[in-house]
Amino acid sequence: MTAADVDRARSWVHASGRVAVLTGAGISAESGVPTFRDAQTGLWAKYDPMTLASPDGFRRDPGLVWRWYTWRRERVAQARPNAAHLALARAEAARGAGGVTVVTQNVDGLHRRAGSRAVIELHGNLMRTVCLARCGTAFDDPSALPAGEPPKCPRCGAWLRPDVVWFGEMLDPDRLEAARAAVQRCDVLLVVGTSGLVYPAAGLPALAARSGARVVIVNPHPTELDGGATLVLRGAAAEVVPRLLQPD
Ligand code: OAD
Repeated sequence: MTAADVDRARSWVHASGRVAVLTGAGISAESGVPTFRDAQTGLWAKYDPMTLASPDGFRRDPGLVWRWYTWRRERVAQARPNAAHLALARAEAARGAGGVTVVTQNVDGLHRRAGSRAVIELHGNLMRTVCLARCGTAFDDPSALPAGEPPKCPRCGAWLRPDVVWFGEMLDPDRLEAARAAVQRCDVLLVVGTSGLVYPAAGLPALAARSGARVVIVNPHPTELDGGATLVLRGAAAEVVPRLLQPD
């Protein structure tokens, strides 16, 4: 990644009326939130996703899954938004409505905590808890949950579960449609910190490119999406993203 590459991408961002940003776990890595697939440090290197992040796994052992999510919630609660999250929030505030839309696969809520408002959480949010039977019960504040491990829905008695998308589950169709619309109408799509392996999110960069957008990848490592990008910037999110969004 040369300074000229960063300047080129920055000039596209500046000339663009609408910037969309697809983020993955890598944007939160420098906040201390583990990614999924990085060797050694990634969650899926240590834990089995089908045991901990699937409806079948939850039904087999709700207590195990609940404790794992409690641990993840505690880690996320201790984390702070980093320079990349903050730069995106500042750019949205400076550009006004529609100027910057974040489509995130992350469930850590750090974009909103940084101050971003136009955020589409494709895979849900770790801090929100809902009824497994979808009776309508939802808790936004983990401390308001009924005691128990895992707690039961006070309305219908089913298990409560984190409001995240598990393997084998569909994404919320309205959120997915909003994400597709955002990447179709943007001039530049920044793709930050995702391995590009999980669909339908991983299909969004190609959709943006087909719709005429420039696609810029920010990632220290190669990804599945590199071949379809206009430009690949090999660097860490907290270093590169603020440079791309720096005002003149
Ligand atoms: P992954 O763990 O698959 O990929 C993380 C990416 O972040 C990798 O490409 C890393 O190279 C990159 N990365 C690491 N450190 C970085 C840094 N400092 N700056 C920028 N990039 C960095 O995470 P996702 O692509 O988000 O799904 O995974 C997609 C989905 O798979 C997740 O949302 C989750 C998981 O199973 C659900 O929970 C439904």
